[in-house]
Amino acid sequence: MDAESHKTDHARSRERGRSKPKMPKCMMSRRQFLLTSGATTATVMVMMNTGTGFAHEVPAMVATYPRKLIAKLSELTQDEPVDFAYPDEGAYADGMVVKLGVPAGGGIGPDRDVVAFNYVCTHQGGFLGGTYKGDTKSLGACPLHLSTYDLTRHGILISGQAYQSLPQVLLELDGDSIYAVGVFGLIYGRFDNLQG
Ligand code: FES
Repeated sequence: MDAESHKTDHARSRERGRSKPKMPKCMMSRRQFLLTSGATTATVMVMMNTGTGFAHEVPAMVATYPRKLIAKLSELTQDEPVDFAYPDEGAYADGMVVKLGVPAGGGIGPDRDVVAFNYVCTHQGGFLGGTYKGDTKSLGACPLHLSTYDLTRHGILISGQAYQSLPQVLLELDGDSIYAVGVFGLIYGRFDNLQG
């Protein structure tokens, strides 16, 4: 007789009680999330206990990023940033898209070298506009406390006072058109990227 068959019903039921409760699954993949970006809000289904003891799917409204045309690939010149505002025209939304000339994390285009970043230093909000360096593919040094960010590696900090990477603007290429479709990382000065 194996060990399982020695267990009493009581022991089996206690084991069942210890097993982890099933968590509700996220109903949307990252790709699906990005594909909904044409609207400002979208309805998704989430699992909720509605007081009946059973989980039910109920609709929830979540904010999503706009899909915004920010540049034409054919008009980009290597190491010459093009400025834009995203995800809105509010405070801390300024950023830039640049063709680095070397492959980069999150880069789009045939050479995977076109990336975009928010311009606001994650330390205390110093403005990084005009600080792009083509020789090191970096933004900085920040005019306040000298933080510098590596644009080939998702805006990771190279040096300085900041401890968070620079928010990277997610891009999609549609023919020759470059669209901003999201932001990876929290923009300085916002509690939510979509709440300017
Ligand atoms: S605000 Fe940029 S390093 Fe402090």
